[in-house]
Amino acid sequence: MSGNALNGSEVMEPDKNGSDGSWVRITDYDPLQGWSEPGQADARARWCCEQLEDGKILFFDGIPYDFPEKDREFLLQQRQSDSRIHKNISYRPSQDMLRGSVADKPEDVERLHGIMRHFSDEITGLLSRVLKPYSAHWSLDYASFRPEEESSRNLSLHKRNDLLHVDAFPSRPTRGNRILRCFTNINPTRARNWLTTDRFPALAEKFAKDAGLEEIAKSGDSTGSWLNALKRAVGLKVVERSAYDKFMLRFHDYLKENSDFQEKCEKIHIAFPPMATWMCYTDCVPHAVLSGQYALEQTFIIPVQALIHPEKSPIRVLEKLAGRPLAAAAC
Ligand code: SIN
Ligand code: FE
Repeated sequence: MSGNALNGSEVMEPDKNGSDGSWVRITDYDPLQGWSEPGQADARARWCCEQLEDGKILFFDGIPYDFPEKDREFLLQQRQSDSRIHKNISYRPSQDMLRGSVADKPEDVERLHGIMRHFSDEITGLLSRVLKPYSAHWSLDYASFRPEEESSRNLSLHKRNDLLHVDAFPSRPTRGNRILRCFTNINPTRARNWLTTDRFPALAEKFAKDAGLEEIAKSGDSTGSWLNALKRAVGLKVVERSAYDKFMLRFHDYLKENSDFQEKCEKIHIAFPPMATWMCYTDCVPHAVLSGQYALEQTFIIPVQALIHPEKSPIRVLEKLAGRPLAAAAC
C-alpha cells in the first residue's frame, strides 16, 4: 500500500489505496440512480449499517448528493473573524436556524442559510438510502460548516480537534444513543487529514477504569441530583445526564489529557481528498483532524434500538465492563 508521508507516518489515501481496515469505499452508489443494483438496495444498506456499527468509516470518492458548484464557491469565500467564539458555523435543521455566521451583508447570511438548509436536506436524503434501516428512527442533529484551517487553530486542550478523541456533546446528552456524522471535504485542492486508532471497545477495555467508569456508573443519572434541583429552583438551564453521558464526556477529556496515549498509540492517517464524503460513528471511531480547511458535516442521533447490533454500541460495551445499566429507561 503506497502513501504520502505525514509526520513521518504512512498516510492512507482512500482515492489511491486499498482499505487499511479502518474504512470502506462505496463504489456502487450513484447520487441520481441510487444503488447500482436496485434489487440489492436493502441488503447493501443493511451491510453499510453493519460496517458503521463495526467501527468502519464509509467513504465515497465524490459528493454523492446534489451540491451546486456555485454553493461551493460561495462557501470557500466565507471565513470567521473569531474562531474562539464559534468553532464553526452551525445549522439546526429542526429550527431552521443558522448560528456563528459573521458574513457582513444580510443577503450573504441568507445565502449561507439556504446553502446549509439544502446541504442538510441532501445528506438526509443520501443517508435515507445508504442507511435505510435507520431512517425511520434517527433524529437530525446539527450541521456545520468548518471554514478554519485546522492545523493552526488556537483552542484549549479539551476543545482541540487535533488530539484523538471520541465525541460526546456536553449540551445534548444521548443516553446511549449513537452519534453518526457525515462529512464532505469541499476544499478544491487539499485533503482533510485525520488520525484514527483502535476503536471504542479496545480503548474502553484499556482505559475506562482509569477514566473513572466505576464511580461514574455508581453515581447514576443526574436527573434527581441536588445540584440539578438547585439549578432548576433558581431558573438555570439544566442538562440531565445519564451515567453513560457523564462517562463519555469524561472519556473525551481523559483521552485528550492523556499525553502518553496521544503519543504512543498506534495511529492510522487518513487523507480525505477534495470532494470526498465520509461517515462514521464518532462516539466509537477515535479521530483527530490534523489539517484541512472547508468541510461540511451533518450529525444524526441513532437510537440504540435502531441498531442492527446494539451489543456493539459504546453503552453496551461500558455496561458490560461496569456490570450495571448506565442509562435508566430510555435505552
Ligand atoms: C471532530 O473532531 O469532531 C471534527 C472532525 C473534523 O472536523 O474533521
Ligand atoms: Fe470529534
